[in-house]
Amino acid sequence: MITVITGASAGIGAGSALVLAGQGHELVLVGRSPGKLDAVADRVAEASGRRPATLAADFASLDQVRRLAADLLARYERIDVLVNNAGLMTTERSTTVDGNELIMQVNHLAPFLLTNLLLDRLKASSARVVTTSSRAGKTGRLDPADLSRQRRRWSGWLQYGDSKQANALFTVSLAERGLAATCLHPGVLRTDFAAGTLFMKLASWTPGMSEPMEAGAARIAHLATHSDGVTHSGRFFSKNAPARVPARLADPVLAEELWQASLAATGLKE
Ligand SMILES: NC(=O)c1ccc[n+]([C@@H]2O[C@H](COP(=O)([O-])OP(=O)(O)OC[C@H]3O[C@@H](n4cnc5c(N)ncnc54)[C@H](OP(=O)(O)O)[C@@H]3O)[C@@H](O)[C@H]2O)c1
Repeated sequence: MITVITGASAGIGAGSALVLAGQGHELVLVGRSPGKLDAVADRVAEASGRRPATLAADFASLDQVRRLAADLLARYERIDVLVNNAGLMTTERSTTVDGNELIMQVNHLAPFLLTNLLLDRLKASSARVVTTSSRAGKTGRLDPADLSRQRRRWSGWLQYGDSKQANALFTVSLAERGLAATCLHPGVLRTDFAAGTLFMKLASWTPGMSEPMEAGAARIAHLATHSDGVTHSGRFFSKNAPARVPARLADPVLAEELWQASLAATGLKE
């Protein structure tokens, strides 16, 4: 079982690596910092007796995502699970070298590009794709014609909501294209995510408002291993069960508009 995890250098990506290694998965850990990836690989090796491979790519550069996909295709004849987990929220607006707003690129366009470049290999392997979305996606007001929020007010949380709505719609589209694809709200978790923001400070200080990282890692591992990850393709999970979501997170027409806009933004052709 070959399992690729992005955002594996910290937080729930690293946590899910430990869980899945314990279940015998051969792991490929992807992150942007080789030093942090090595440290996680050491911990996984210590716990499971098998050292995972590591590959570095900064999702703020689509060229680095293209290189990552080429490396994966060259090294692995099959990929059984792809966990699209890397993500961030930042309160400073910035634009990537590719001309996209950073949060939308790292959280949606980069995993969209990576998954598409691996698509034939994933299909041939009857793979699962698990994408870490968030309940913040329910606040999303995604406009496929304005992915970078150039025409609308930008704030980090507004854009984060759009990007996590995009994760849910991308999952709908992958399922329509025959993949076993699910996404999840992993919980409100004590990780480095959105560190320093008022919401995350409140969440970690207020009893009962957040959970340890391991709770989210177990939920990713559930979709990567349990039959739920196949039988509920296209669905948004919360606490290991398919959840009801607002129509705009499951709308196939909006999902297709997003797919076409994402092809254009990443220079891909169907
Ligand atoms: N924590 C929560 O409460 C919560 C709730 C809902 C959803 N989520 C989602 O869960 C996922 C994982 O977050 P986490 O809580 O584990 O946070 P985290 O501890 O900050 O981990 C985020 C991971 O994404 C990677 N990453 C960030 N920017 C990147 C870039 N430009 N290129 C490549 N990788 C990049 C990070 O790499 P570095 O180690 O180099 O920073 C790290 O491995 C995210 O998609 C987040 O939106 C989290």
